[in-house]
Amino acid sequence: MSGEAMRTVVHTRLGEPAQVLALREQPDPPRPGAGEVLVRMLVRPVHPGDLVGVEQLPGLPEQLPEARTPGVEGMGVVESVGPEVRTLRPGQRVAVFPAPGTWADTVVVAADRAVPVPDEVSDETAALMLVNPLTLRMLYRALENALRGREGAVLQTAAGSSVGRLVSAAAVRHDLPLINLVRSESGARKMRTLYPTLPVIATCDDDWPEQVRRQAGDRGVQVVLDCVGGAMTRDLVELLADGGTLLSYGRLGSGSTALEQLPLVHRALTVRGVTVLHWIGRTPEERAEDVAFAVDLARNTPELLEVAASYDLADFKAAIEHARRPAKSGTVLLTTPRATDSGQGDAR
Ligand SMILES: NC(=O)c1ccc[n+]([C@@H]2O[C@H](COP(=O)([O-])OP(=O)(O)OC[C@H]3O[C@@H](n4cnc5c(N)ncnc54)[C@H](OP(=O)(O)O)[C@@H]3O)[C@@H](O)[C@H]2O)c1
Repeated sequence: MSGEAMRTVVHTRLGEPAQVLALREQPDPPRPGAGEVLVRMLVRPVHPGDLVGVEQLPGLPEQLPEARTPGVEGMGVVESVGPEVRTLRPGQRVAVFPAPGTWADTVVVAADRAVPVPDEVSDETAALMLVNPLTLRMLYRALENALRGREGAVLQTAAGSSVGRLVSAAAVRHDLPLINLVRSESGARKMRTLYPTLPVIATCDDDWPEQVRRQAGDRGVQVVLDCVGGAMTRDLVELLADGGTLLSYGRLGSGSTALEQLPLVHRALTVRGVTVLHWIGRTPEERAEDVAFAVDLARNTPELLEVAASYDLADFKAAIEHARRPAKSGTVLLTTPRATDSGQGDAR
């Protein structure tokens, strides 16, 4: 390591990120053990899920037993490798996931969670290469399962989100009858420009459910891909055709819907959660396929991994404020300047 102080963002209790997170000097990282690598982190995203993890971590007390650093993905340069690591070498650029604690200047991670970054992929794109594309793969598999043998429309909420745009691009490619929901007229205009063949409906219109019904036609909505939830869940479930499925993968909205309010039983509906945090439990073959998909996407369509803005790690509060801004486009990044004397590869 080059001698300069390493930094980490930490919290010791759950709560509003701007209040409970603080910048600290990072203790010397442990030497990577067998099968592990030490990565000098350069860029990591501020995902909505990172902020949810600071506000509320199911199963954890409000006062955490030890300081925790947010972040699950990012990119950096391999600083050193532990015994038995044959696939990576110091100096190599890697994207890491799942790697708890990436909002720090260094992280130790299992070598099979560090993906070499092709030369033509920028640091910024590499930092966004895994979580959202792998989420797309998880959502698409769940969607295919839910649709098996059924025809009809698929509805997605928060369609202008980074994940929503990946879903839209996949829908265009696979000819999926996707209806995009956004919350504002300006968001709808943006989506019409980006994906002119996909219908877009804005929930600021009072009659949006009626517009969805008209658009879905006789077969109705078979699957909803939802990351808004809260009070909106009830309206979304009402829109499902009998036997349909709500795939829940986020909670951006406010309010709540009680399970008992939903007509699950007499309309034979399914509600299923999807999380990329379960991706690591997939078989090695499936993971290899998914990673190859993600690398290919980063290489060939980096515009689908759009960056909203970059902030130095120390400016994490401003970055969080930006990440929460309405009508933001893309993902906010936290950066660490490249060390001048560590022999790292060229900045890209
Ligand atoms: N389950 C998983 O494994 C997984 C993985 C990745 C992401 N996610 C979830 O996917 C969602 C999108 O993530 P992202 O990184 O793509 O987000 P993002 O790029 O930050 O975009 C957020 C989007 O959500 C919209 N939005 C925010 N609050 C809303 C509300 N109350 N009602 C309706 N729309 C709202 C925003 O619309 P405006 O443009 O109108 O502001 C914006 O389009 C998040 O809920 C995230 O937690 C889940």
